[in-house]
This record gives sequence, C-alpha cells and structure tokens, in this order.
Amino acid sequence: MAIDLRSDTVTQPSQGMREAIASALVGDDVYSDDPTVNSLEERVAALFGMEAGLFSPTGSLANQLLIRTLVKPGEELLTEERAHIVRAELGAGAVFSGITTRTWHSERGLLNADTPLALAHENAGPYLVSTTAIAVENTQNFGGGTVQPLSEIEKLSTAARARGISMHLDGARIWNAHVATGTPFAEFGKHFDTISVCLSKGLGAPVGSIALGSKERIAEARIWRKRYGGGMRQVGLLAAAGHYALDHNIDRLAQDHARAKKIAVALAAHHRTIINPAHVETNIVGLELSETGISAADFAARCIEQGLWVSALGKSYARLVTHLDFDDAQCDEAIEIMKRVLS
Ligand SMILES: Cc1ncc(COP(=O)(O)O)c(C=O)c1O
Repeated sequence: MAIDLRSDTVTQPSQGMREAIASALVGDDVYSDDPTVNSLEERVAALFGMEAGLFSPTGSLANQLLIRTLVKPGEELLTEERAHIVRAELGAGAVFSGITTRTWHSERGLLNADTPLALAHENAGPYLVSTTAIAVENTQNFGGGTVQPLSEIEKLSTAARARGISMHLDGARIWNAHVATGTPFAEFGKHFDTISVCLSKGLGAPVGSIALGSKERIAEARIWRKRYGGGMRQVGLLAAAGHYALDHNIDRLAQDHARAKKIAVALAAHHRTIINPAHVETNIVGLELSETGISAADFAARCIEQGLWVSALGKSYARLVTHLDFDDAQCDEAIEIMKRVLS
C-alpha cells in the first residue's frame, strides 16, 4: 500500500470513531436541535475560553464566516503572504465579503509582531483603505508547520486591539501548536476575537471545523452559514467524530511531530540544503529542493513511482505531512524512498 504524506487530511476514521458516529444522538441542526453538535460547539468554545462556537463543514468556510464579522466590504485584512486565507481560499474574502487584503512576508511565516503593526493603517480616512483585522495562522501550513511564538501573538494582539484592530486566528492546526509548546488553548483564546479550528486535519475526523467568537459574532456567522448553503441537518453524526477526535487524538500528535523530525534529520544528513531539522516543529516537513537539481514535480513523481505520495507545492518546494495513519515502519520506508530519489 502506498504511503500517503500529501496532507494530514488523508486519514481514515478509526473503528472507535466509526462506532461513535454510528451511535450519535442527532437532531435538525438548522433548528439548533442537534444535541451532539450543540455539545461540541460548547465544548470547543469552553476549551478556548470563547463565548460561542459554530460547526462548519470546512476550515475555509469557518475562516470566511469569521473574517466577514470583523471586516466590512472595502476594509482590509492583513496576513502573512503564505497564509491559507490568502493563498488557498480562492479569493473567497474578496468574492463573498468585499474584503481587501494586504500581506507581509516573514521567513517560514514566523510571526514578528512589529511587521504587521508597521503595515496596519486603522481609520485611514477617505483616501486609503482602513485595516480592521489581522489574521495569524498557527501553525502555519505553507511556512512548514511553523509554531507562532506566544510572546509575539500577545504583543501583536495587545497593540492591534489598542488601535481598534481585531484579531483572527486560523487555528486549523492549533492542536499541533498546543502539543508542541504546551500552551493551554485558553491562552490562545485570550488574544483573538475569532478563531477557526479544524477537526479533520491532525485530529483525524472526516469532516468538521468549529468557528469561535463572541455570542453576537457567532449568531451572525450562523446566518451567513445558512445563506452560503452550509446549514446542515442531522450533522451530529459528524460532530460525534469531532468529540471522539478531541477525546483520543490530541496528545498523540506528539508522535506525528517526532516522525516529521526523524524525516527531517535523515534528509538533512543526506542532503544538507534540503531542510533545517530545527525548523520542523510540528507535523509538516517542507523540502527546499533548489540545490538538489530536481524539481518538486519530478521529486513527487519519482516518490509516487516508489509508493510514496508527497505534495509539490512550488517549483522547488515539496511538502510532507505526518498523520495518524502513518507509523514508524512507514516512516523508515518513506525516508529510504526519498533518499533513493535524491541520490
Ligand atoms: C491553515 C489552514 N487553514 C484552513 C484550511 C482549510 O481547511 P478546509 O480544507 O477544511 O477548508 C487549511 C486546509 O488545509 C489549512 O491548512
């Protein structure tokens, strides 16, 4: 069987998760009647110290529902240039909400609060676009699973809010940041007005994200979710998978991180410039192939020929993501395949 490291979204629901799905109590969630959805929304909100939560089919929708509560049409959201919101949501903020964006650059997407604070222009008057929100992604996917320093988050949040600028966290992989640093979830909650978290990435649920914020913002997001066609009925079947994922799959992320690190150390020993193992903090291994003489597309194609799926995300950038269906034996095999391809 092929080893699939294209993403941590490729996992199969475990037997225990399937049993939880099968026995879920459900109701019509458009009427807010689904007890399993309601308890999941409350549970995740409480975990992050936020007032309310809203089940969303995807992380993209959760992000989009939330940022539109922070930024009005023609106003501006700032974020790092590789953030999922600007790189991989296909312009949704502009298309559906009239949101304009400006981006900053930082190495590996690592947050330095001074950069967005220098870029931000609140209450810009009648000629320039006003900044009304800043989005931070933690961990940052296209930066290579980068963990954002809590001190920089705190500095940014305090200064931005003092200037009337709201804070959004794309926390699709906040679970990984929590496991990597030990930071309590509520600590993240303090610094953001809205947060999206995904249950379908490292936590292994088949579907589901939760949008978090104040009661007012989540009530508004609920209306827009329905308007976008994302109001679902007996969706407690999916929320049950989310509960199961929270019960069983957070702490085990440490194994994914250890395997990602093992891959990075082995590949760095084989080819010095391909990766700095110190930069692999979570479950994502970003390979810079420019000095290897092989393009990312060729690297991915040759890996696939040998039974390993990886993603080619740029001309010379390939990405591997470890996950709960990837074990130690497969880790060793994946390393051997990549060493052969790079030889
Ligand atoms: C950082 C980040 N945010 C949001 C998303 C969106 O999640 P979804 O694919 O469920 O829309 C992803 C998906 O990979 C992601 O990596």
